[in-house]
Amino acid sequence: MNLLDYYKKAMKNNFALGAINFCNMESLQGIIEACKETSSPMIIAVSESALNYMGNFTTALASAGKKDFPHLFLHLDHGKNFDICKKAVDMGFDSVMIDGSSLPYEENIALTQKVCEYAHSKNVFVEGELGQLQGIEDNVQSDKSHYTCPMQAKEFVLRTNIDSLAVAIGTSHGAYKYSGEKTLRFDILSEIESLLPSFPLVLHGASSVDTSLIERINKYGGDLSKASGIPKNLLEKAVKEHNIVKINTDTDIRLAVTSQVRQVLAENPKEFDPRKYLGSGREQIKNLVTDKINNVFFSNNQI
Ligand code: G3H
Ligand code: 13P
Ligand code: ZN
Repeated sequence: MNLLDYYKKAMKNNFALGAINFCNMESLQGIIEACKETSSPMIIAVSESALNYMGNFTTALASAGKKDFPHLFLHLDHGKNFDICKKAVDMGFDSVMIDGSSLPYEENIALTQKVCEYAHSKNVFVEGELGQLQGIEDNVQSDKSHYTCPMQAKEFVLRTNIDSLAVAIGTSHGAYKYSGEKTLRFDILSEIESLLPSFPLVLHGASSVDTSLIERINKYGGDLSKASGIPKNLLEKAVKEHNIVKINTDTDIRLAVTSQVRQVLAENPKEFDPRKYLGSGREQIKNLVTDKINNVFFSNNQI
């Protein structure tokens, strides 16, 4: 099954594919171990900065992972221009995201069309984005949240020929998502779905920022007070009652590994073998991804 086949299956069976970011061998191994144990397909996502960080090891790691567990799809997260998307296509990615969401509408359309033409000619799928998420990460910055306009979403999909659309309905990137009430605009999502029936929709900025991980990080020397994420029940509603077939998660993985590494090093001051603390972090990633698969993506036993 290719990625679009999985999106169709996800829509029919009310689950989503997780799109989990990885940036090193341990994070990818932790993700794959969870997928194997739960028989879950998975999108393994790489941001532009992660691609720079791992270089050619990106596809080498992904290929090794696919040999171990074939139900993985390598995806470029938040490609900001044609060149980075072309580079990912040429490197053998299964799917790319062209994120023109910060551009004026017509420029976003033109750029997304160009990426679709190239990627589709090489049988690579394309995700576009309309509307803007709040939050700050290395390459993804936006001060204000602009919800996706449903009418524009329909036109955007028809004119660009994208395979999936990332929507802005109140999620945001990073570990500080809410200062007030934790809600998502399901009304906007429903409107988009009525204009684009059965079209694969994507939720970015979907980490839950578990308080126990934050507390553990702070206990062992970190300082992440006021962090907050998307409650699991809102994600479940998005997956089970709506057409969200891809849920992007990066922050939660970072928190999981950081909490574990901090604790191991704090409790074992004489330890200096990276396999001990990174291996332990890898186990923590596996546990977190297993929980996501079973209780957020509901993608267990779907291969
Ligand atoms: O949504 C964005 C991802 O979390 C990528 O972040 O550029 O820091 O790797 P990064
Ligand atoms: P989080 O920061 O909520 O994990 O979102 C990740 C994301 O959207 C990657 O594209
Ligand atoms: Zn994102």
